[in-house]
Amino acid sequence: MEFKELICERRSIRGYASAIGHDDLVAVLRMAQQAPSWKNQQASRCYAVETPELLEDLRSCALPVFNRNSSANAALIVTTFVKDEVGFSGGEPVNEVANGWGAYDLGLHSAYLILAARSLGYDTLIMGIRDADVIREKLSIPDNEEIMSVIAIGKRSADPSVRPRKDLNEVVRFF
Ligand SMILES: Cc1cc2nc3c(=O)[nH]c(=O)nc-3n(C[C@H](O)[C@H](O)[C@H](O)COP(=O)(O)O)c2cc1C
Repeated sequence: MEFKELICERRSIRGYASAIGHDDLVAVLRMAQQAPSWKNQQASRCYAVETPELLEDLRSCALPVFNRNSSANAALIVTTFVKDEVGFSGGEPVNEVANGWGAYDLGLHSAYLILAARSLGYDTLIMGIRDADVIREKLSIPDNEEIMSVIAIGKRSADPSVRPRKDLNEVVRFF
């Protein structure tokens, strides 16, 4: 598949027929690791949930009903980043962005992840509306990690709604 085609085909999918299999999930997570990161610190973390009981529990306790429904039948990947590492030197932020750099790195990691998934024929939904406290408790995520998204990943059963993008001139200035 051409890269341009891959990018255009990737859409948030809100209906899944089945979860991704374990081996393909590992392949996707390995590809996501190729994302660039600040000083190659690789502070992005993933908690991949595949077991049906835990998936059901997490979905019903940590996701609002619309995200619960959208992600039914998919596997879930909780993404986090280790705080106070990326963009820090000697325990102090190197500039005003501070932990925003960890979030930046994780965003790149997630971008690689969702495109890698698509390249293997899977679809994804990044969900930022979730209950971080519940997720932390259920997956024993340490306090030094910031919980960001939950990503559903599986084979699509629903067609994507194509969301328009702003005109380039609205979001880019050329000098
Ligand atoms: C950080 C982030 C958080 C998001 N949170 C949610 C969410 O909680 N629920 C949802 O249905 N979609 C969520 N989305 C998906 C966006 O709505 C979607 O990416 C956007 O509408 C563009 O559509 P597309 O991904 O199909 O191109 C999120 C996307 C991002 C990047």
